[in-house]
Amino acid sequence: MKSAYYITIVLVTFSLFQSGCAYQKANKETKEVPQKETSATNSESDNTAEYIVLNDSIKNVLVIRGKDIARETTSVLQKHLKKAIKESGLEYAVDFCHTKAMELTDSISRAESVTVRRLAKKYRNPVNETDPEESELFKSYILEWLGGRPLSPKIIPDKEGHPVFYNPMYVGTACLNCHGVPGKNITSELMNTINELYPEDKATNFKKGQPRGMWAITFTEFKIK
Ligand code: HEC
Repeated sequence: MKSAYYITIVLVTFSLFQSGCAYQKANKETKEVPQKETSATNSESDNTAEYIVLNDSIKNVLVIRGKDIARETTSVLQKHLKKAIKESGLEYAVDFCHTKAMELTDSISRAESVTVRRLAKKYRNPVNETDPEESELFKSYILEWLGGRPLSPKIIPDKEGHPVFYNPMYVGTACLNCHGVPGKNITSELMNTINELYPEDKATNFKKGQPRGMWAITFTEFKIK
């Protein structure tokens, strides 16, 4: 009960800054959120994690918060990406993604006391590759998608017992410029830049509407009993 109350407080506080220049606000306002000292990548939080029972109501709260953080991250990435494309074109934008995408997701991770990852089986950056269990999950999403069923988010514990929010993300028209068919959607100049920066790139030949990968947001401040 205490856990549900605590998560609800965090959730409500988070919902208060869901608009406008959300990235800056998130950094500023989360200082007032009663949360523990955690960082984006370390596991110090394991000692201080709050134990929760993963019942349906807690799952629902984590799904809502996961969706909020995913939306927030999308808007921050898109804002920066649009600006980069507008100012200096797609090639510069790819270069920008190369250096900044991870930095941006990491700062949101720190601000929200979670770990935000964008995973893919067909990855561009190998650090974003799904692990074997995540690949199975993504495969099951693809099968559901091929069967025409709507895909829904899932909360699954990781090896340390932290709950993880997973949700597929889809290819939109704008994504095709960098993840579509080379020569058709992706210019050869841009493809050269991509190949230089990402020699292992597998993230092309996507079609509009296909699942591109999935969000994985780990709630490091909680552990499942
Ligand atoms: C300007 C080119 C560009 C556009 C447009 C673009 N991406 Fe990417 N995308 C990249 C680059 C470059 C990376 C690798 C980032 C890194 O190094 O972390 C990437 C990485 C990703 C990843 C992380 C997994 C991986 O493959 O490394 C996902 C998921 C993703 N993009 C989805 C999308 C979606 C969905 C859209 C459309 C809403 C989109 N991208 C639009 C260039 C782009």
